[in-house]
Amino acid sequence: MKSSIRQGVKLLATGSAVPDLCISNDLISDIVDTSDEWIFNRTGIKERRISSSPTSLIDMAAKASMQALDKTQINTLDLDLIILATSTPNDLFGSASQLQAKIGASKAIAFDITAACSGFVIAMVTATQFIQNGSYANVLVVGADVLSKWTNWSDRRTCILFGDGAGAAILQSCSTVKNNILGFHLNTDGQKFDQLNISCEYSNFSDKCIYPGLRGNFKHITMHGKEVYKFAVSKVPQSIQSCLNSLNLSSESVDWLLLHQANNRILNAVASRLMIPAEKVISNLSKYGNTSAASIPLALNEALEDKKIKNGDLIVMSGFGAGLTWGTLIFRWYG
Ligand code: UT7
Repeated sequence: MKSSIRQGVKLLATGSAVPDLCISNDLISDIVDTSDEWIFNRTGIKERRISSSPTSLIDMAAKASMQALDKTQINTLDLDLIILATSTPNDLFGSASQLQAKIGASKAIAFDITAACSGFVIAMVTATQFIQNGSYANVLVVGADVLSKWTNWSDRRTCILFGDGAGAAILQSCSTVKNNILGFHLNTDGQKFDQLNISCEYSNFSDKCIYPGLRGNFKHITMHGKEVYKFAVSKVPQSIQSCLNSLNLSSESVDWLLLHQANNRILNAVASRLMIPAEKVISNLSKYGNTSAASIPLALNEALEDKKIKNGDLIVMSGFGAGLTWGTLIFRWYG
């Protein structure tokens, strides 16, 4: 999809935050019939962080945001827009406004994006549109999720996978010649929504004023793992290839493949289909598991802090998951 670009976009800085509580595979093996060996061999996960506080989503999002802002000249009152990608809000009406209040960004408009594990990529694309069309100059994009609160801890097919975390990125407008966000490619297949979801169950209730009434109650994560796996390894390479083609870039020009951290086998399969060497794949799954919308910015921040990513590097970022949704964003890093 093409849009008229009035301003360029620069990714200025990133930040991240995770809860202190670390749950190892061995600990999970005490709860369900599994083992460290099975989990590590099938996913690459060794441990994950789990939050226990009811305010953890906003606390982590705020910590990650402030860490990112502290690396820039921007202060919270300079922010025009905050986009919080989360599928685990602490308020169904949205949680971004709580983040706005917590960091004191009173001049920023704030809203949530719900797109599960593709949430951060879609939020980055959305932020980019607002900057490129000249509407806003300073934008905070956060991916944060606390899937542990929606995990069925007696289902070994899913409970081994997920962890909690938050990651943030600061985007700023710049001249079009200095534009860093080069292109994107997004997809949705709503026919397969039930392959991975947290559905709402309705039950009847009687009330003096409203009859008949229905009350909603969200259940826990359910996933058809094999189907989602097949979807990821077939659709994600196609999305990346389309995005590269639209920019006249080859897969050899990619310096880093930064995929949603769902499963090391998926990361490797996508890289191999694109003929991108394994050394160019960013992975921190072993420490955090699948943190949904947080996984890409968490891994990005870590790779930047470790100085893995160098000035001028070309990064392909791709998210995939519930919806089903998937999407790619290609950018160059200039720190
Ligand atoms: O974040 C959104 C995107 N999500 C994903 O991309 C997840 C995609 N799916 C996956 O990563 C993988 O499908 C899983 C890691 C979830 C599962 O791995 P798998 O290799 O597809 O395993 P499976 O579901 O085919 O199960 C293989 C066997 C089964 O036993 P039988 O039927 O062969 O006897 C399962 O019952 O492994 C069994 N199993 C387990 N065994 C020990 C399933 N979960 C476990 C477990 N521990 N935790």
